[in-house]
Amino acid sequence: MELKIFITFLLLLLLFLFSIFLLFGGKKYPDRLPPGSLGLPVIGQSLDLLKALKADKVDKWFQEGITKHGPIWKASLFGYPTVVLHGPTANKFIYTCDGNILTNSQPPSISRIMGSNNLFELAGHDHKRVRAAVALFLKLEVLKQYVMKVDEEIQHHLQMHWHGNHEIQVQPLIKTLTFNVICSLLFGIERGPRRDKLLPHFQDMIEGILAIPINLPFTQFNRGILARKNLVPMLIDLIREKREALEEQKQHANPHKDLITSLLSIRNDDGSTTMSDEEIIDNIILVMIAGYDTTSILLTFLVRLLANNESVYSTIVREQEEIAKSKAPGEALTWEDLTKMKYTWRVASEMLRINSPVILSFRRATQDIEYGGFIIPKGWQVVLSSSMTHMNNDIFENPTMFDPTRFEKHSPQPPPFSFVPFGGGPRMCPGIELAKMETLVMMHRLVTQFTWELIKKDESFKRNPMPEFDQGLFVRITPIKSNIYVI
Ligand code: HEM
Repeated sequence: MELKIFITFLLLLLLFLFSIFLLFGGKKYPDRLPPGSLGLPVIGQSLDLLKALKADKVDKWFQEGITKHGPIWKASLFGYPTVVLHGPTANKFIYTCDGNILTNSQPPSISRIMGSNNLFELAGHDHKRVRAAVALFLKLEVLKQYVMKVDEEIQHHLQMHWHGNHEIQVQPLIKTLTFNVICSLLFGIERGPRRDKLLPHFQDMIEGILAIPINLPFTQFNRGILARKNLVPMLIDLIREKREALEEQKQHANPHKDLITSLLSIRNDDGSTTMSDEEIIDNIILVMIAGYDTTSILLTFLVRLLANNESVYSTIVREQEEIAKSKAPGEALTWEDLTKMKYTWRVASEMLRINSPVILSFRRATQDIEYGGFIIPKGWQVVLSSSMTHMNNDIFENPTMFDPTRFEKHSPQPPPFSFVPFGGGPRMCPGIELAKMETLVMMHRLVTQFTWELIKKDESFKRNPMPEFDQGLFVRITPIKSNIYVI
């Protein structure tokens, strides 16, 4: 115990000295640094930003900085001297800058839980290689064949957790749903004890990633590290089984059976696997974390919207009823059906504009970089508020108004890098098609099987950094009797 306290103290001291060292790095260009104040080393303005996140007022926090210092300014955030950016030009710069000059910067505490080989940590050639392997399974042509599987998971979820209940907490339930979809589709783990054993470990890991990184017994961070330790042997077993299945089936094997099988099937010219087992493990964990909270938040916001906005609700119901009419009761949805849900996806896009799940991106300069007439010194962090463009009146007229017609085919397109809920460039989210598929299928099943109302009309949420509703979004649900069938 004493040793752990000593190590934590030592780490904080090292971080303090490191940030002082970086500050001196910045002194090389005293006249070329952006305006602003670095405040106290290590702490700087971190607490202010965390407070703004909790109140969902990050835009306001950025706006205050811009009013005070101009469009590019410096601050000290999470232990690093930082240059703070926003706007379409900044989005383009961050998303398309050479990954060897501006790397992804996750705090070391995060890679302790997520592993050092995950895509967020990789740069240059390694990022390209691993990303190509992961994206191969997540691309539309492959995912198209799995609409039925996603639909089956969703229908089972509704049967188990929604039907038979009068009141439910939407957000935690939908998180379990996105976990189950990823387990089935990406890991090939079907319902049963194995999946049930994984869920608490994943939840502990996610809480550990979001926690203050103090590794003492009973801290959330410590639980996250332990969860990874428990999870890795389970994933090793899973990989071994899938490898054996692949070898047994040889030419009859379907390399796109699930993401893990797909990663094991990709070979170099000499027959060796493209990815090591360590890389596969770290990226399975990443995909689960990246796909779990994000899609579930979008769906939770949509459930809230439909309870509050009669006009959007009735237009979605009309679109979905039309599709339902063409199918037998209980018949699975197909890719064709999803292509008809155009209005529903426009509503989801407008929701992503107004309430982007990911609002900040973090990078680190690996060399002195010139940007906007200033120098970003080597080692400094760059923080981008990418979604600020979504609320820019010059780009989206009347930006606080919820208006899905903005995304109609004939409406003027927003300029490049100004609508970026999925990021952009070589690190753009590879999970878009899966997120879209889950959202459309779930909306179809929800509006054709239930009506609902919010129990607490003004239930608020805080960002942690992902939006979390205070009571998980409590709703009262009523099944639509004519559409009840057991799958
Ligand atoms: C509504 C749902 C989603 C949203 C809004 C979202 C958003 C994002 C954003 C903004 C990034 C880029 C971050 C940056 O550049 O700093 C990203 C990256 C990523 N996302 Fe998503 N995501 C969603 C769903 C998913 C799903 C379902 C998966 C997986 C199945 C996924 C996997 C990933 C991965 C692996 C990366 C890292 C890519 C790389 O670094 O090359 N995401 N996502």
